[in-house]
Amino acid sequence: MRSNRFLRACRREPVDCAPVWLMRQAGRYLPEYRALRQKYDFLTMARTPELATEVTLMPVDRVGVDAAILFADILLPLDALGLGLTFVQGEGPVIARPIRSEGDLAGLPPFEPHQDLGYVLETIRLVRRELDGKVPLIGFAGAPFTLASYAVEGGPSRQYRHCKRMMWEAPQLWHALMDRLAEITLAYLRAQIEAGAQAVQLFDSWAGALSPQDYRQHVLPYSRRVLRGLQDTGVPVIHFAGQTSGYLELIREAGGDVIGLDWRVDIGEARRRLGPDVAVQGNLDPLVLLAPPPVIEAQVAHLLERAGTLQGLPGHVVNLGHGVLPDTPVEHVAAMVEAVHRLSRRAGGGTEGS
Ligand code: CP3
Repeated sequence: MRSNRFLRACRREPVDCAPVWLMRQAGRYLPEYRALRQKYDFLTMARTPELATEVTLMPVDRVGVDAAILFADILLPLDALGLGLTFVQGEGPVIARPIRSEGDLAGLPPFEPHQDLGYVLETIRLVRRELDGKVPLIGFAGAPFTLASYAVEGGPSRQYRHCKRMMWEAPQLWHALMDRLAEITLAYLRAQIEAGAQAVQLFDSWAGALSPQDYRQHVLPYSRRVLRGLQDTGVPVIHFAGQTSGYLELIREAGGDVIGLDWRVDIGEARRRLGPDVAVQGNLDPLVLLAPPPVIEAQVAHLLERAGTLQGLPGHVVNLGHGVLPDTPVEHVAAMVEAVHRLSRRAGGGTEGS
C-alpha cells in the first residue's frame, strides 16, 4: 500500500507522517471532473459505477491524498425513497416531495441498500479493484439530522423552520422520521463496508443549527444508534458534525472513532475536550486554499503544531473543516498535501505504516 497512514491515524497508531484527505476532494475544483461534467449530469455520474469510479480516483494521483472517498452523495437514499431529487443550478439540491406529515412518512417504501443503491455498492467494488491497495477507500452517508433537514425542508435551508417546528410541535412524527432515517443509514453504511469501504464518515453537516438541548434530545440518540451499530464491523468511523464546537462533548457522546472538526474551534482545545480515546480530523478553513502556497504552508504548520501532531501525539487526520470549494486551484490542494507530509514527517513516533 502506498499509504496506510490514514487507517493507522484513525486508530491512533504511530504514523510516518500525518495522513491527509479533503472533504469534497472528488469534485468541481478538478478540471478533469468539470470536463466529464460537460458530458453527464451529476446524478448520472453518481449512478454509473464506471463514471463514479473514475471520479473517485481522480484526486488520488493528482493531489496525492492518503485516502479516496467514494463519489456519491448523501442525498441518494432520499432519491431511492422516491422523494424526487434534482440539482438546480445556483440553488443546490431540491426535494420535490418533502416529508411534512404522518401520511408522508407512512407512504415511504421499504429501503434495501442492495436493491435500492446497488450502483453505489458496485462503485465501491470497482474502486477497490482499481486502487489495488494504493490507498484506503472511505464510504459515507448523511447523518439522520442532516438527511432530515433536506427531506423535511425540501432543499437547503438557513433556519430549518420546518424541522424545528416538527421537533417541537409534532415530536412523535419527528422521532418516527429520525428512527426511520437512522435505520436506513445504518443499513446503507453496513452494506458499503460489506462491499469494501475501509472506513466510513457520517456527515452531520448542519447539526450546528441546533441548541445543545435540542441536539441531545432530538438528534443524538439517532446518530448514536448508527455509530454504535457500526462498532462490530471493526472499520474506523468518522463523525463529522459542522458548527458544533459549542457542544463537541455531545458529538463525542454520540460516537465515532474519529471526530471531524470545523475551523471554528482550536484543534488543541478540541482535543483536550474530547479526551485521549478518540482521534480528530480537520480542520483548516477551506478558504485557506485560495491563498498563495506560502500562506497555505504557514496555516498547515500552525495546524500541526496546535493539534500536537508535531509533538508526536497520534490520532490526527488532516483535512479541511468543510468541503473544498469549487474555485480552489488544484496546485494549491497539491501544495497543502505536500506541506502536510513534509512538515509532519517522522513526527508521531515511528516509521511504521509508511
Ligand atoms: O467528498 C467527496 O468528494 C465525495 C463525494 C461527495 C459529494 N457530496 C459529491 C457532490 C460527498 C461526500 C458529498 C456529501 C454531501 N452532499 C454533503 C455533506 C458534506 C458537506 O459538504 O456538508 C451534503 C450536504 C450534500 C448535499 C449536496 N450535494 C450539496 C449541498 C451539493 C452542492 C449543490 C450545488 O449545486 O452546489 C451537492 C452536489 C454535489 N455532491 C456535487 C458533488 C461533486 C456537485 C455536483 C456538480 O457537479 O454540480
